Amino acid sequence: MSIIHSHALPLTLTLTCEGNTSALELNLENTLGRGIANWCLHLDLQRDVTAGTATQLSRVGSHLQLQPADARELPAGASCTLQLRGESKLLQRLSDLPSGCFVSFGDHTVPVQLTSHNLATAPANTDEKNIYCYSGSEAPVLPLPLDMTEAKGTRPWPETLTASAVVDALPAVDWLQRMLGRGWRPSEDKAKAELLCDLDSSLGEEAYRLDINHYQVSLVASTQTGFNRGAATLLQILENDPERRTLPCLQINDAPRYAFRGLMLDCARHYHSVETILDLLDLMALYKLNHFHWHLTDDEAWRLEIQAFPELTHIGAWRGHLETLPPQLGSGPDRYGGYYNREDVGRVVEYAAQLGITVIPEIDIPGHCRACIQSLPELLQEAGDNSRYVSVQFFSDNVLNPGLPGTYHFLEKVLEEVCEIFPGPYIHLGADEVPEGAWAGSPASRKLMQQEGYTDPRELQGHLLQHAQQLLAARNKRMIGWEEAVQDDKLSPDTPICAWTGDKAVIELHSSGFPVVSCPASRAYLDIAWSDDPNEPGLHWAGTANLQTWYEQPPFPTEIKDGLGVQANLWSELITNRQQLEYMLFPRVLATAEWGWSSNAGNDWPDFRGRVEAQLDSLRRRGISPRPLGPKD
Ligand code: ACM
Repeated sequence: MSIIHSHALPLTLTLTCEGNTSALELNLENTLGRGIANWCLHLDLQRDVTAGTATQLSRVGSHLQLQPADARELPAGASCTLQLRGESKLLQRLSDLPSGCFVSFGDHTVPVQLTSHNLATAPANTDEKNIYCYSGSEAPVLPLPLDMTEAKGTRPWPETLTASAVVDALPAVDWLQRMLGRGWRPSEDKAKAELLCDLDSSLGEEAYRLDINHYQVSLVASTQTGFNRGAATLLQILENDPERRTLPCLQINDAPRYAFRGLMLDCARHYHSVETILDLLDLMALYKLNHFHWHLTDDEAWRLEIQAFPELTHIGAWRGHLETLPPQLGSGPDRYGGYYNREDVGRVVEYAAQLGITVIPEIDIPGHCRACIQSLPELLQEAGDNSRYVSVQFFSDNVLNPGLPGTYHFLEKVLEEVCEIFPGPYIHLGADEVPEGAWAGSPASRKLMQQEGYTDPRELQGHLLQHAQQLLAARNKRMIGWEEAVQDDKLSPDTPICAWTGDKAVIELHSSGFPVVSCPASRAYLDIAWSDDPNEPGLHWAGTANLQTWYEQPPFPTEIKDGLGVQANLWSELITNRQQLEYMLFPRVLATAEWGWSSNAGNDWPDFRGRVEAQLDSLRRRGISPRPLGPKD
């Protein structure tokens, strides 16, 4: 048993497996010094479980409420055992354990601490000296440039930091200064400037040339974005020498392989501050990722202020015991959450634009909608709907109803505001994971099906998405969606689609003519655990994936030359703070960056690993906590 000390009510967990099933015994001790009546144990568990012996269970999503089936009193000093049952591999790693535990009785809540459990814990990953010894370039740039020639010699680190820059290069020079923590003095005299930024209109939008020679550092591009990309390379080279003594002389000619290189951050399951997002944008720019996919709404919360519906954020952005939305994913009994107002969105969008990053907001419909439905029940619920379904995340009331006029009013108002505050070309409308059985018991949906001649309730999804796509098109915006968006053939064929379930989906969507963003869970989901070590945090429904797995699997088969791009997705079920975010993000996101930009990705693991190590050192000097690479990684 692992022992954790605490002052809260102690809870012990014992998992036993027999054949294909397991039993989870939860023993709660009343150390309050008084008896409690009509009590209930609350905990969050992302597992399919049923009530075991002498236990009553109810659940909303990950939030479970357990009560003894008979005695409702727990005298002072007494213990009670509650039981759950599930499949044999119910809990495999520490991050599978229940979280957000508390007891409620009357108006009270009391924290509960898991004080012991019997999960096997292998030795933690150690950061021993590894077997790889990188003897490559003095400029371990990541992603690898298209063409880099290392010349002989070095030049001194720019001491006086003088720059001569065309207007288009100024945001990139500003960013370099901020990231280096040093100022550059403008120089009128090009010949005397240590950094010279100049235009060459023959270069592509994100292409650049960087020349570090004995006299000068010269950066040439045709657009503001091209200067950003070149500045990222220069920053990596500058930061590779923490002593700030010399720079290697070299020439780089660089351009991206894919136009779309994305990173998704789920801000619905747990709220991440604007400061975290701005810092993340800096890191995206450092590795030349150019689309920030901002997952703003889900079952567990709605995070975007919509002026037409203040309820969405007054109610839908908060969880807690006795709040409209119950605790989820470890958030506990107190009111917990947050949202982004228009000013926050403006800061993110403006900062991203300066870095050449497009922000794609995601309003996930028609599934994953519990938070908005609970916030606006009069508009979005149908009294006579007796559809029965359970979503993958255990919600049974999380799907917008395409038969209700309120749904269309809601979407029109929400999308109108979203289009107003996000200037980029894309709006992501989700469309993933609508559970089987949604709408089957809805009189309004049945009526719509009759009107339209639909035979399968699933056609209602395409009906709603088609309507939403038209709303976007009228505002000059393009819809983008997860792969289920194409299910019943109602979307326009140029809709970009994020293929997330696997290579089969990547290939099929591509052969159907859709522009495909490749992001299969098995090598692009940053929430997936690194390995089978039970100490390694993460989900494992799609297996586990270490850096080498990410690096060695191409996003598209070689015969597909025209994929739209790649994306890494950081779902936040398990991410409640910055350290966890950084641990899951790095180093694996670097493999996505390499595949997205470099035309030579995937061919040289030792070289890539060496460049990753150099980048991890630089990141650590910035105060970031990546997952360390161990000797066997
Ligand atoms: C997804 O992982 N549901 C897109």
